[in-house]
Amino acid sequence: MQEKILVLDFGGQYNMLIARRVREQHVFAEIRPYSKITPADIRSAGYRGVIFTGGPNSVYDPASPHFDPAVLELGVPILGICYGHQLMAWMAGGEIASAGSISEYGKVTLRHDDSPLFAGIPEESVCWMSHTDYVKTVPAGFSVIASTEHCPCAAMADEGRRLYGVQFHPEVTHTAYGKRLLHNFLFTVCGCKGDWTMDDFVTASVEKYRRELAGKRALCALSGGVDSSVAAVLLHRAIGDRLTCVFVDHGLLRKDEGDTVERVFREQFDMNLIRVDARDRFLTKLAGVTEPEKKRRIIGEEFIRVFEREAEKLGKIDVLVQGTIYPDVIESGAGDASVIKSHHNVGGLPDVIDFEGIVEPLRELFKDEVRAVGLELGIPRELVMRQPFPGPGLAIRVLGEITEEKLDTLREADAIFREEVAKAGLEAPPSQYFAVLTDGRSVGVMGDARTYGWTVALRAVSTDDFMTADWTRLPYELLAAASSRITNEVRSVSRVVYDVTSKPPATVEWE
Ligand code: XMP
Repeated sequence: MQEKILVLDFGGQYNMLIARRVREQHVFAEIRPYSKITPADIRSAGYRGVIFTGGPNSVYDPASPHFDPAVLELGVPILGICYGHQLMAWMAGGEIASAGSISEYGKVTLRHDDSPLFAGIPEESVCWMSHTDYVKTVPAGFSVIASTEHCPCAAMADEGRRLYGVQFHPEVTHTAYGKRLLHNFLFTVCGCKGDWTMDDFVTASVEKYRRELAGKRALCALSGGVDSSVAAVLLHRAIGDRLTCVFVDHGLLRKDEGDTVERVFREQFDMNLIRVDARDRFLTKLAGVTEPEKKRRIIGEEFIRVFEREAEKLGKIDVLVQGTIYPDVIESGAGDASVIKSHHNVGGLPDVIDFEGIVEPLRELFKDEVRAVGLELGIPRELVMRQPFPGPGLAIRVLGEITEEKLDTLREADAIFREEVAKAGLEAPPSQYFAVLTDGRSVGVMGDARTYGWTVALRAVSTDDFMTADWTRLPYELLAAASSRITNEVRSVSRVVYDVTSKPPATVEWE
């Protein structure tokens, strides 16, 4: 059985980071909201250890998250972090108090005693604190194993029961020896071997779905994006022809994109693929629509309608495969497993098809891990490393009314820009880059004649999380080459501008 750690989520801001830090040490970590799991589940799932995360609350607040104290008696090692540390102390009969005006925030000096948790860590080191409440009296059986100037119990342990709590955050890089501490917990306390790799993830998932979906038929909406592609290939490996992929071509993709998707999935993977040519249908619905949110709504709804119609033709389908990844789960409601976000981001779930269930093979993974799985599965690098592309596609990059002619113009300009970025071989390519067809025409001159063509805007941003973004300082030569080629090669474009606005105040997309 694959060794794994449970990250029991109490709502803190660093919870994703904890799972990440564990996986970086080649131990698989699953994150579960505290309200969705019981001590009995923890026992039967065979976790090697449990980490209680931080959380924004105070244990004495009746509305704060609590957990069944029976978890402390399972014999499974536990590490409580911040709120998780206080909760463990409280559950075991300790006393928590509010530090009031001397709450600690930021880097402080930690002093520790001897404990397997601190093996290899200097007696004094820097840790990251962020708390008001603290453990005033440790529960029976526990002893204090570290302190700071203002925090008498910065860490506690009941070595016999292998229960540990730390008030600071070992998962953030500001804690100098945080990684070492987690390593000690995983390897010395929990006895993990650390042999988890993406390869194992693929093998374990394929086996799991082969077993769970024996004799069942599955359907997957393929968008050509990274997540749905990886989910589809993984499921295909498990159940082969019993998976059908529906690729709705809404005509709002970039140049040659639809054909690439079809080629990869049909030829390389020999999948049951249905490509639905819905271009006219989408264009007709979008005719005359200029308002961005209305465009998004129409595309989302149409997508679902087209998908439903195809699914109905297929007869009984048991499960729907979705490319949901961990950040989607978080965005759609603090780890609450009941909220499902449609993988193509533009609409909801089909409501007329009667599925038995939804399969989300990538639900636990972060984006870079999904890419690693994709490469492991043999999906071409250019598809796996693709920059993000919005569900509504070029519809929100053709400003104002959408027409076939405007879409074609944008596709050509965008392809040239992407070619030039690729050709420049930048050391740090932008996180996302594309062309926008503005709704403005401007005067130009070509030969001796006056022209009056479209203005194309080029956009390139650098960002980690897309919540904020800086405009990328692309080399002038690259911009010059793109501008010159676009105005020469794309009829009806007479001007190219570069967008030098960051987010905020602007957004990445223009609509
Ligand atoms: P904004 O424009 O909000 O974009 O700064 C942030 C990131 O989200 C993408 N984006 C979308 N993705 N459906 C999507 O699937 C949408 O409606 C949508 N709007 C923006 C955008 O491309 C960028 O990566």
